[in-house]
Amino acid sequence: MIFTVAIDGPAAAGKGTISRAVAAEFGFAHLDTGALYRAVGVKGGDPIEAALSLTAGDLNRPDLRSLEAGQAASRVAVIPEVRAALLEFQRSFARREGGAVLDGRDIGTVICPGAEVKLFITASAAVRARRRWLELGGEAAPKPFEAVLAEVIERDERDMNRTDAPLKPAKDAVLIDTSALSIGEAIAAALAPVAAAL
Ligand code: C5P
Repeated sequence: MIFTVAIDGPAAAGKGTISRAVAAEFGFAHLDTGALYRAVGVKGGDPIEAALSLTAGDLNRPDLRSLEAGQAASRVAVIPEVRAALLEFQRSFARREGGAVLDGRDIGTVICPGAEVKLFITASAAVRARRRWLELGGEAAPKPFEAVLAEVIERDERDMNRTDAPLKPAKDAVLIDTSALSIGEAIAAALAPVAAAL
C-alpha cells in the first residue's frame, strides 16, 4: 500500500511526537525531514555540497537536536539549491511501500502535494517556547525562557517569510492547535483523520 501522511507546522508545535505516534499506530515508516536540514546546517562548508552528499552518519550526529542546529538548519533551508538537493529523497520515501509519515515545513505544499492526509500542527509561540525550555531543563536550562522564546519567534519568521517553500498550511490540511491539548489529546486529534482516510 502507498499512503502518505504529510505533517507540517512550526518549531516545537508537537510534530515529532505526533508523527511518531501516527507511524507507530499504522505501522508506517517515519521521516523527520527537519533532521536533513539540521544535518546540512551543522556539517559546515558549502551547504549545497553538504546537501548533495549527506550520509547516514551526518543524520545520526548527537548534536542535531540543539537550538543551534535548529537555527543553522533554518539558515540553510532558505537556499533553493539545498531544498532541491533534498527533494527526491523525501519524495521517494513518501511513496515507499507500506505507508509513510513525513514531518517538516513544506511536506503538504511542495514535497507531497498529493498526500492522502495533510495535517498542520500549530501552537502559540509562548506555549512552544515553554515546551522547548522545559525540554532544555526549565530553571536549570542553559538559557532563560525569554531567550528561547526569541529564538522560536526568529526561526518562525525566517521559515514563514522565505521565498522558496515557506511554512504555511496546504489548502486541504487539517489544522490542529495543540496549545491547550495534552499529548494524548493531540495524538488522538491526529490519528482520527488518518484512520478516516485509510
Ligand atoms: O523541524 P525542525 O525544527 O527539526 O526543523 C529545523 C529547520 O529546518 C526548520 O526551522 C526549517 O527552517 C527547516 N526545515 C525546512 N523544511 C522542512 C523541515 C525543516 O525548511 N521540511
